[in-house]
Amino acid sequence: MSKSTIRKKVKSAMKKKAKSAIKNKGKSAAKSSVKSAARSRVKSSAAGRAGSAAKKKPRSAVKRKAAAPVKTKSALRFEIDGKACKARAGQTILDAARDNGIYIPVLCFYKGMKPAGICRMCTVKVGGRNMAACTTPVAEGMIIENAIPELEDMRKAMVEMLFVEGNHMCPTCEKSGNCDLQALGYRYQLLAPRFPYMFPQRNIDATYSKIMIDNNRCVQCRRCVRGITTKDGRNIFAMTKRSGKSTIVADRELEAKMPDDLARKAMDQCPVGAILKKEVGFAVPIGKRKYDAKPIGSEIHN
Ligand code: SF4
Ligand code: FES
Repeated sequence: MSKSTIRKKVKSAMKKKAKSAIKNKGKSAAKSSVKSAARSRVKSSAAGRAGSAAKKKPRSAVKRKAAAPVKTKSALRFEIDGKACKARAGQTILDAARDNGIYIPVLCFYKGMKPAGICRMCTVKVGGRNMAACTTPVAEGMIIENAIPELEDMRKAMVEMLFVEGNHMCPTCEKSGNCDLQALGYRYQLLAPRFPYMFPQRNIDATYSKIMIDNNRCVQCRRCVRGITTKDGRNIFAMTKRSGKSTIVADRELEAKMPDDLARKAMDQCPVGAILKKEVGFAVPIGKRKYDAKPIGSEIHN
């Protein structure tokens, strides 16, 4: 082998070695850089955790964010005569008005009894339409008119009509001072009715055992029919005939078995003096009765 060939071989061998050395160096450098990067990542995440842990307050010290007021169905907003009111879901206008200190007159409505919408004394305007407040549920954003001249005059006319179509002798009536119709007459300042008296011939039945029924005073609200029942749910009172000839009667058998407190309840639930309990009369002297002290509606007005 010549000297030059030997030199060439040595040179190429050295080149190969140098190349492999560079390769190895690069790999190890890369490896080490990956390792260091990983190490630094671990470190930084650990530091981050440690930092955030340091920032975190103990659970007990963390104040819970106050719950935002949830708009439930129970917070309906509506308006009566410009006054902002609130109602629970399902509440009638009448009920909600009372809760908000607003009086709407009633006759056939009796608290605790399912409303029937018979007398229309509670008529209000909802969006300009006449509606019975005792049977109409409140809806969000309702605009209701109640104590406006048009409705007040209509209610006054209804009270006047009830007075002229029956025979109401307030000065001698046991219910005077406790009578809703009489109290409404005072509220609407009835003097001489604008309608002619009808003086109808109506039946007075005093042949019952516990009560007497005077149809001259009956305003046909059906509170007695709807609200006075036996323990097993049988109606004691009923309405017979139609229109102007309608009269209230009681089932004689059931009436005779009526306990005293139920007979008293029948008398109290009748808004006028059409049902009277026998053997009790003028126990509370006139002048000291419910509406003698305060006018009707004063218990509700703000
Ligand atoms: S008797 Fe009294 S409770 Fe019964 S319908 Fe007549 S007014 Fe109403
Ligand atoms: S009270 Fe509403 S209709 Fe009689």
